[in-house]
Amino acid sequence: MKYLTIALAKGRLAELSTELFGKIGLDCPVIKEKSRKLIFTDEKNRLKFMLVKATDVPTYVEYGAADIGIVGKDTILEEGKNLYEVLDLKFGACKMCVCGWADKALPTGFIKVASKYPNITRDYFSSKKNQTIEIIKLSGSVELAPLCGLSEVIVDIVESGKTLKENGLAVIEEICDISARLVVNRVSLKMEKERIMGIVDRAREIIKNDNNN
Ligand code: PRP
Repeated sequence: MKYLTIALAKGRLAELSTELFGKIGLDCPVIKEKSRKLIFTDEKNRLKFMLVKATDVPTYVEYGAADIGIVGKDTILEEGKNLYEVLDLKFGACKMCVCGWADKALPTGFIKVASKYPNITRDYFSSKKNQTIEIIKLSGSVELAPLCGLSEVIVDIVESGKTLKENGLAVIEEICDISARLVVNRVSLKMEKERIMGIVDRAREIIKNDNNN
């Protein structure tokens, strides 16, 4: 039997994904160990798990280097790759928001917007707001941008809201809800439909039960 390859977004999502696979009965204990290994084989179930940088998961799945991926909706929206999004896994929940100074409304007219998500930012301001902006692409600690005058506002994910609060910032507008999604390569879904949908259906059941309790 051919191996099915699963790309997991490194970090917290990979831990939660491992938990989910454990509940499905596809245990991958090696990921729980703190090793530097990036690929783990489950001989019994003919599975390979790969630990991939979150922003690269859609690329691995689009090219078929992975049959299945687990990644945040933020990355899916930002990367815009050609893949099937088959299941909302509900974990890793947060919101994509426009954020700025706590006591200020969103400035009208031309503004600078800093973000790790230039495509989501561009799309929101052009199609939803019809506002001309300059996007400043950053790689992290985006909340710093308004604090030092690099931009008027930011577009970023907000989970607990702690980072904003501790920096005197707040949500100005909500763009969309984000959570982890299971994505599948288009060809793999045709060629390995039974095995992949078997995993998807079992995951769907577990999520349904977890969210009803
Ligand atoms: C993310 C995000 C926010 C923060 C939100 O950053 O970009 O900065 O988490 O979480 P909170 O609402 O619970 O405070 P991350 O921790 O990924 O680090 P980064 O700034 O390096 O991207």
